[in-house]
Amino acid sequence: MPTARDWDGQTYDRVSAPMEAMGLAVLERLPLSGEEIVIDAGCGSGRVTEALLERLPRGRVIGVDGSVSMIGAARERLGDRPGLELRVSDLLELDLGDERADAILSTATFHWIADHGALFARLRAALRDGGLLVAQCGGAGNIAATHAAARAVGAADPYALYFEGWAGPWRFAGPQETEVLLREAGFAQARCWLEERPVTPEDPFTYLREINLGAHLERLPAELRDPFVREVLERHEQPVTLDYVRLNMDAVA
Ligand SMILES: C[S@@+](CC[C@H](N)C(=O)[O-])C[C@H]1O[C@@H](n2cnc3c(N)ncnc32)[C@H](O)[C@@H]1O
Repeated sequence: MPTARDWDGQTYDRVSAPMEAMGLAVLERLPLSGEEIVIDAGCGSGRVTEALLERLPRGRVIGVDGSVSMIGAARERLGDRPGLELRVSDLLELDLGDERADAILSTATFHWIADHGALFARLRAALRDGGLLVAQCGGAGNIAATHAAARAVGAADPYALYFEGWAGPWRFAGPQETEVLLREAGFAQARCWLEERPVTPEDPFTYLREINLGAHLERLPAELRDPFVREVLERHEQPVTLDYVRLNMDAVA
């Protein structure tokens, strides 16, 4: 199954400092002795992967991402570091063969995958018993104002035709339903919670185009993409602050 949307790894790498800051705070929650095998699930261009690798001097990182462009940007950033393996794979098809990881770190990725039940089952299968999942993604209410603005702009001409019947690929889930899904997928313990993390991007146009509105833009012909982003931005107060709400997950396999 292909990933829901494609990304421009170079542009993401350039504008994703706010995501890196959020990701590093998630990494802080993962206890590591330095010898573990850890999967970075949805590693993107590798900014957080790089910090993870530094914490595993005797261990290994398997960075997995569905986007060829993101893995290309991660290779450019990280080169051939010892202990690093980068793979293009859909997380819904993640398969380590006979190997099992000690932990999975994931930042800003799970909300791009609609079927969280299937995702968590795959992740559980890749972990040894007792292994850890420490993750954060968009949660209930995430960038609600931006999505409302995109819906309003997308409901009018010349865009309406392209969004008819489209609800988007993302899933911004709540903590309780996620804890239930994690347990159903075989995690022995699961604790989830929401956290507000407002972001004021330095270059809101490029940020929205590459990160928040990428799935919308894939539906539009090339000449309508920039005008769509501009109209969505006009519906935000200046300076543009995005109302991120993050869903955190700490689980034990
Ligand atoms: C916003 S980026 C986050 C990248 C990085 N973890 C970070 O914190 O900056 C989301 C990433 O999830 C990846 N992704 C989305 N759906 C995926 C799937 N089904 N399988 C694998 N990767 C996926 C995208 O390709 C993208 O690189």
